[in-house]
Amino acid sequence: MLKLGFIGAGFIAKFYARALQYVRGADLTAIYALNGAEALAAMARELGVGDPTVYGTVEEVVQNADVVCVLVPNFAKVETMEAVTDARRRNAEIRGLVVDKPLGRNMAEANRMVELANKCGVFTAYHENQNHMPPVRTALAQLLPAWHAAGPIALARSAEEHGGPHEPWFWDPTKQGGGVLCDMGCHSIDVARFILTPPGKPLDFLVPVSVTASTYLLKWGQPAYRAKLLAKHGVDYTKAPAEDYATGQVVFRNPQTGQLVVAQFIDSWMYDNQGLCLRMEALGPGYALGVDSLTSPLTVFIGDAVAQAIGDAESALEKATASHGLLCVQPNEMDLYGYVAELRDSVWAFATGGRPMLDWEHGRRTTLLVMAAYWSAERGATITLDSETLDFLDIYIPAIQKGKGHKVLGVS
Ligand SMILES: NC(=O)c1ccc[n+]([C@@H]2O[C@H](COP(=O)([O-])OP(=O)(O)OC[C@H]3O[C@@H](n4cnc5c(N)ncnc54)[C@H](O)[C@@H]3O)[C@@H](O)[C@H]2O)c1
Repeated sequence: MLKLGFIGAGFIAKFYARALQYVRGADLTAIYALNGAEALAAMARELGVGDPTVYGTVEEVVQNADVVCVLVPNFAKVETMEAVTDARRRNAEIRGLVVDKPLGRNMAEANRMVELANKCGVFTAYHENQNHMPPVRTALAQLLPAWHAAGPIALARSAEEHGGPHEPWFWDPTKQGGGVLCDMGCHSIDVARFILTPPGKPLDFLVPVSVTASTYLLKWGQPAYRAKLLAKHGVDYTKAPAEDYATGQVVFRNPQTGQLVVAQFIDSWMYDNQGLCLRMEALGPGYALGVDSLTSPLTVFIGDAVAQAIGDAESALEKATASHGLLCVQPNEMDLYGYVAELRDSVWAFATGGRPMLDWEHGRRTTLLVMAAYWSAERGATITLDSETLDFLDIYIPAIQKGKGHKVLGVS
């Protein structure tokens, strides 16, 4: 049984614990977190996914796990990995490292994460759950004959939207790395790239050519919402605003055929609809796929007469915004969003000495595209990914991330 050690015990750690119910061959055995470790341990016991010990240091988790999962906020990832690497240097045996997206807030951090993982000398898993989503994978398998018969998918669109994140640090661009583009653009860009990648080719096969993006503060910059944000999360968008809407496109070139293909993305934290919405659409010559996470075989209706009895909107859907009326319910979000499949992939790889589907190098490539998107939005221009630009992006920190988003977002 593979022993998983979690550093961090918040939102994503709880999703992993629930997903572990569907994964064979691994238990959650060790947890360290500033907050929430005991609650997560209790949850793991209740779900039957392990009887974890709560430790007081990163080092103890590394000593007591086969696979260390870095599930801390973005601002704490590098310092956590420094501690993991120190523990590993003191002879703690581990078989693998997992990090959830994003790998870093900028290229300096992403590069450091890869460097530290290399020092640890073990395989890595970069968890980008949307590449594992069963509807996406099933659609691609179903369309394989069409792909071979007619030619490749030329356009992939991907959107992730909800009404705003759950913890204050997400809203603070200096802590999180930006707004919705840093938080969710990495998902959308990467899953679109995944959909466009020809079957059987590695995920870095398509060569990124250019990135064009825009960032806006559409809802949370308005005075009434700014005040709500300040009151609820202590984050002041008059001082350091972050984007709540981002859109753009990445153009890739197939190095064998020279054909250009396009990944379009839309991400927002101002989606005042039912809850988390993931939408993908892809078009090839004569065929298409479509995924919409707000379509479910299950709906429930809760009328006004009993509405007061219902408090937990999120039992229907992640980031749900309503607790009554006609509700879309996803009975197994862990599976739908790809958490089960990505954990299964990593557990199987680490248990058998292989490589997970996505490694931290892949995470670094994704960070690069997100940085190019911020640079494009700042300049109001298409960014061509030539060698000079790549060198620049290696040291670039987006203005929004520096807490200087006023000019980019038009906030006065
Ligand atoms: N794949 C997805 O869809 C998805 C969804 C949510 C979050 N995430 C990612 O997962 C990561 C964690 O996000 P979250 O939503 O779980 O955050 P969270 O705020 O809900 O939980 C963070 C956890 O880390 C702990 N922590 C904070 N600083 C720490 C430190 N220095 N050392 C040890 N523990 C520390 C906190 O106490 C808490 O237990 C982020 O990088 C986020 O982007 C991914």
